[in-house]
Amino acid sequence: MKMKILVTAGDGIGPEIVDAGLGVLREVAQAGGHTLELDYKRIGGAAIEKDGTPLPADTLAAALDSEAVFLGAVGDDKFNSLPPSKRPEKGLLELRTALGGFANLRPVFAFKELTVNSPLRPEIIEGADILFIRELLGGLYFGKPREWNHEKGEAWNTMRYTKDEVTRVARVAFELACKRRKHLTSVDKANVLEVSQLWRATVNEVAANYPDVTVEHQFVDAMSMHLMKRPREFDVVLTENMFGDILTDEASVITGSLGMLPSATIGGKVNLYEPAHGSAPHHAGKNTANPLATILTGAMLLRHSFGLDTEADAIVSAVRTVLEHGFRTEDLARTNPDGLTMLSTSEMGTKVRETVKTLLVNA
Ligand code: IPM
Ligand code: MN
Repeated sequence: MKMKILVTAGDGIGPEIVDAGLGVLREVAQAGGHTLELDYKRIGGAAIEKDGTPLPADTLAAALDSEAVFLGAVGDDKFNSLPPSKRPEKGLLELRTALGGFANLRPVFAFKELTVNSPLRPEIIEGADILFIRELLGGLYFGKPREWNHEKGEAWNTMRYTKDEVTRVARVAFELACKRRKHLTSVDKANVLEVSQLWRATVNEVAANYPDVTVEHQFVDAMSMHLMKRPREFDVVLTENMFGDILTDEASVITGSLGMLPSATIGGKVNLYEPAHGSAPHHAGKNTANPLATILTGAMLLRHSFGLDTEADAIVSAVRTVLEHGFRTEDLARTNPDGLTMLSTSEMGTKVRETVKTLLVNA
């Protein structure tokens, strides 16, 4: 199989983690006789500096011409004084809009070896396995009007959803719930916001087509607490853009590190694959960042864009094996360095790569 992928590493630790992720993808491709056709383009702060815009036209064209986009991270402190419309993040938001993927899948599961890394007690998180579906193209991020009116000393954003936007993402969430434990939690703030009332009513309408799936609604404030107290009771969690952004960072605590959360955005013209974490500018260029979220994102790419489930499973198994053997990046070793082997970003990439090769050869 030929896989045409646009690689856009972005800022901060982006290039390092993407390198590690690509190494693993190359290994898988080689083992299965697949061809990776890679194109590389700039996005975010890196693009602002070279091209004067966070999403250059050739990056967008290459993205639309690819079968999948593999992205590192965007954002850098040096752009902090710029308005949202000129920041690196704007490039990512424009790319998401252009690609059209509205369902951002963020799986959160606790590898047994990493439960000790979480500040939560092991009996609370062991076995937790949640799939967040974050709506990615609507809500506060994109709603209009939006403005900071300096003269008036007033600023506003708009949380807006149409029924169609909620319906399409809810369908994806219910379909995925059918393949899992058939439990769906929809998160909103329907006790205060009209937009959440529309959200809830629409989710209930879609739910009527999925009688096997148990539906529960939670307010976002309560949900943020339940996630920390009883994460094992959740299966699929569906929520709007901003709530999903916040809750998934929170939920990463269950995995032991924000560096463990992959993501896939599906439903549009071209799927977008990016780890859920940011560009961590303070860690950039040190070869210490955790590449596992990006490596696991590569597994999602193989699964969702190319149907290579065996290969995707092999990557997840390889990550588990590497963790079982005590290999850790800095973020995963802080709490109990005894008996563990510290690896750099590139070493971790190589370790997973070698392990996946062994797994695929013996499969
Ligand atoms: C994420 C990030 C992005 C978002 C930023 C970088 C725009 O935080 O993917 O979670 O808010 O969606
Ligand atoms: Mn985020």
